[in-house]
Amino acid sequence: MKALVLVGGIGSRLRPITHTSAKQLIPVANRSVLAYVLDSLKEVGITEVGIVVGTTAAEIQAAVGDGAQFGLDVTYIMQDVPRGLADAVLISRDFLGDDDFVMYLGDNYVVDGIVDFVADFRRDSPAAQVMLAQVADPRAFGVAELDADGRVTALVEKPQDPRSDLAVVGVYIFGPQVHEAVAHIVPSWRNELEITDAMQWLIDHGSAVGATVIDRYWKDAGNVTDMLEMNRHLLETLERRVDGEVDEASELVGRVVVEAGAKITGSRIVGPVVIGPDTVVQDSYIGPFTSVEGNCRVAHSELQYSIVMRGASIEGVARVENSLIGRDSEVNAAPRTSTAHCLVLGDHSRVQVAG
Ligand code: DAU
Repeated sequence: MKALVLVGGIGSRLRPITHTSAKQLIPVANRSVLAYVLDSLKEVGITEVGIVVGTTAAEIQAAVGDGAQFGLDVTYIMQDVPRGLADAVLISRDFLGDDDFVMYLGDNYVVDGIVDFVADFRRDSPAAQVMLAQVADPRAFGVAELDADGRVTALVEKPQDPRSDLAVVGVYIFGPQVHEAVAHIVPSWRNELEITDAMQWLIDHGSAVGATVIDRYWKDAGNVTDMLEMNRHLLETLERRVDGEVDEASELVGRVVVEAGAKITGSRIVGPVVIGPDTVVQDSYIGPFTSVEGNCRVAHSELQYSIVMRGASIEGVARVENSLIGRDSEVNAAPRTSTAHCLVLGDHSRVQVAG
């Protein structure tokens, strides 16, 4: 079995971060979403992985290389324009040959991997197997209908009027029959070759499409809220580890990871929090569900429920939360024209403050 990982596309809902970097490389608990995807392919014993790349090809290649760091053998397949998920299969025909393959959308994260999903496919040998999960509002997803035996009877991409609450999670498994299907479908209303249409073609031509309905956590990294939620979820699994320096005046509460080379002085950090290598935290408060990548600087600031990417600096800012701060960004306090003082004074105190 091979794998095809899709990281083409544009990531418009994550602008401006995606103006300069691929959304699949945004760090979640200080590792990219793509790294979690590659780990879960390795976990099911797959080694041959094709990565479909678009405009962010150079950056993806710099991060993943030949795949050896993940124990994989990676081939890059260029998609000049994001013409749809089925187009990605079409252009990968030479790489895929007639092998079964997992297709994994590189912006999806499924907790605890895909071992059960692959086992379902191997047990039933359908033409395609799709991963599904119940969602409150399925209109933003592919939506599936199942028969009494749990086989897929219909699939529609982002329907206005969903006929079930079963959303397509971005992981699929296909046998070689899919190549005939992707060659026969036509572009949808949004001018993309839809993989849901290819699976519907298989159903209409008498092939079986199986479903694995999961009830564990998954997320598609669509927008900033999704990224922060994914970060929160992954940070929950942290175990405390302090490899960097923490001075006497600092306090670490709960599950905090301080990577080697990081320096914490005069600060309070309440986990789950991860502080990346060579990052400096000085006279600051860092609150739960925050990940700060390497080479950052946080000084005289308060920060929580946020993702801070490599090389960023936050100085003198009273409170930063629910934020996604891109690489090498700077956040500084503006000069203040008026100052509020919060005082708890005993009787007969004398204080001098700036007027
Ligand atoms: O996240 C689950 C959803 O993913 C499913 O419920 C939908 O059925 C499926 O169509 C897909 O919908 P999205 O609208 O979220 O897909 P998106 O355009 O975000 O693309 C998903 C990934 O595939 C992303 O990593 C970019 C990549 N991609 C996308 C297109 C359209 C490509 O590599 N090439 C493409 O042509």
